[in-house]
Amino acid sequence: MNLLDITDLGADGVASVLDLARRPVSSLGRPLDGRGAALIFEKPSNRTRHSMEIAVVELGGHPVYTRGEEVGFDTREPVEDIGRILAGYHAVVAARVFSHSVVDRLATVCDVPVVNMLSDHSHPLQGLADALTMIEEFETLDDRIVAWVGDYNNVARSLGEVCSILGAHLRFAGPAGYQVTDDELARFTALGARSVSSSIDPREAVQGAHAVHTDTWVSMGQESEKAERIRIFGRYTVTTDLMAQADGHAIFMHCLPAYRGLEVEAAVIDGPSSRVIRQGHNRLHSARGALAYLMGVR
Ligand code: CP
Ligand code: NVA
Repeated sequence: MNLLDITDLGADGVASVLDLARRPVSSLGRPLDGRGAALIFEKPSNRTRHSMEIAVVELGGHPVYTRGEEVGFDTREPVEDIGRILAGYHAVVAARVFSHSVVDRLATVCDVPVVNMLSDHSHPLQGLADALTMIEEFETLDDRIVAWVGDYNNVARSLGEVCSILGAHLRFAGPAGYQVTDDELARFTALGARSVSSSIDPREAVQGAHAVHTDTWVSMGQESEKAERIRIFGRYTVTTDLMAQADGHAIFMHCLPAYRGLEVEAAVIDGPSSRVIRQGHNRLHSARGALAYLMGVR
């Protein structure tokens, strides 16, 4: 099995990964003992690289980090040749890519699990850490209100999937052209979301929310659109005023890296409601849980 999207896990798989993420490392055995994990990055990373490398080591394996240009997906050689070769060396092949089609193609040819470490489409490892962080805070996501403010991007999609599977209410707000689509909302409902909504007004989305999430307005690969995006997203900054619309105990979350003064005010991300450091640390626990699950640990 692969982890290209949260939906690959299904409801039982999400529950298992979150359970494994909370177990002591010593209880997981060493399912990667003496085996390799290929970690290929076409884009920069702090959290994903470090959490995945350490998770592999904790499970007894050996991570091999490679920059995208070294393997050269479809430039040095075809994605399929790269995948078939790496699957002969490693117990897992993980990649951070510009185009989601690359992880899809790897999954087609690899006879070991393929993990999406972020694509233009989704960021499942982030979604798992986000869910873990909210569950630590609220015990459950069932019937909790989760708001997303800003660009409906890769992180938003994976968050929407995991929150739907866990029975949350989803509230999205973003500018026209960058909003969640009706098809996506229908998909979230089918996955189990208690309710879904989309608005142009961030206040509407945040009203009564238990967790308020945002992300950069300019994802990796969109740098040429930076000025235009900053203009378009200008009213979607998560401010203390906006957080005041949320539940009195609401938490602020962001996958990081964050741009203070753009998508979030410093007073919010560095303030008492922020859980971003905990969320970042949970990337390790959820990565370990996900890898153990893919290796068959239950
Ligand atoms: N949140 C996240 O994926 O961070 P990195 O880009 O630093 O890995
Ligand atoms: N949406 C961001 C997430 C970074 C972790 C990006 O894709 O660049």
